[in-house]
Amino acid sequence: MSAKVRKAVFPAAGLGTRFLPATKAQPKEMLPLVDKPIIQYGVEEALHSGIQNIIIVTGRGKSAIEDHFDVSFELEYLLESRGKKDLLAIVRNVSDMINVSYIRQKEALGLGHAVLRASELIGAEPFAVVLADDVIDSETPALRQLLDVHDFFGAPVLAVMEVPRENISAYGVVDAEAVSHNGSKDRVYRIRDLVEKPSKDDAPSNLAIIGRYVLTPEIFDSLQAIEPGSGSEIQLTDGLKHLLHSRPIYAYRFEGTRYDAGDKLGFLKATVEFALRRDDLGAPFRAYLKSLQL
Ligand code: UTP
Repeated sequence: MSAKVRKAVFPAAGLGTRFLPATKAQPKEMLPLVDKPIIQYGVEEALHSGIQNIIIVTGRGKSAIEDHFDVSFELEYLLESRGKKDLLAIVRNVSDMINVSYIRQKEALGLGHAVLRASELIGAEPFAVVLADDVIDSETPALRQLLDVHDFFGAPVLAVMEVPRENISAYGVVDAEAVSHNGSKDRVYRIRDLVEKPSKDDAPSNLAIIGRYVLTPEIFDSLQAIEPGSGSEIQLTDGLKHLLHSRPIYAYRFEGTRYDAGDKLGFLKATVEFALRRDDLGAPFRAYLKSLQL
């Protein structure tokens, strides 16, 4: 039985260049999908997966994230004095939701470097990593699915999904062999190798790494041992490749739909689909879309 995962790291110190100019002065994690910032979807997923301690790695210009999860006395006072109980509950719920700590990454030196920044707050226990701009809609929270596989193997587990060959070079890709889990050989893989952003022809499979990980603390030694890789950044994939020499790592093809909300088209798709599903907006929004006669 492996140790319980209590903490989740949210790296949010990237520059968000794909979303400029919106991300010039505000973090992409605060862009709203309908009416909730992207990062709140990830935080709620962690909570619904049984994780309450959230560590957000922030960088320059990211104070909006801290403010969002903080108590806003002025706003609460105003809503209370105007009798806006529903809105007050929504606002309070955000700040009551989690136990959150922040750590700075002074320079965007890569995802691996951002994870390494959280090492002191994590200590010697397994932990989750959530990249909030991968928004995953699923019946069982994607992170919960990964945690169940971690509980079984007591090893690091990475979320993967099948991606068309022509898009594969945008991802970290696993070379992996299917293993039996819960009587099926369909979703869990033991990783043989990992490649960051391979060309279409060099990709060892069509299984791309998506932004959910359950890691064990040895990853910190690996991240310290490796040299900067692609883009002169410390890549998490390179750290995992290093760790693979000393212990098994698994991949899990999660159930659910993933939206790349850090990309303009992915963000628009998520916005439309989430709005259509809302009780308060779905019907009029559907009628509006139909009226466009595309
Ligand atoms: P991305 O690859 O999406 O990079 O990072 P980015 O800088 O955020 O966005 P683009 O590609 O320029 O538009 C994946 C995740 O890793 C975090 C990001 O915040 C994002 O959650 N990250 C990346 C860091 O925290 N620090 C880094 O140095 C790099």
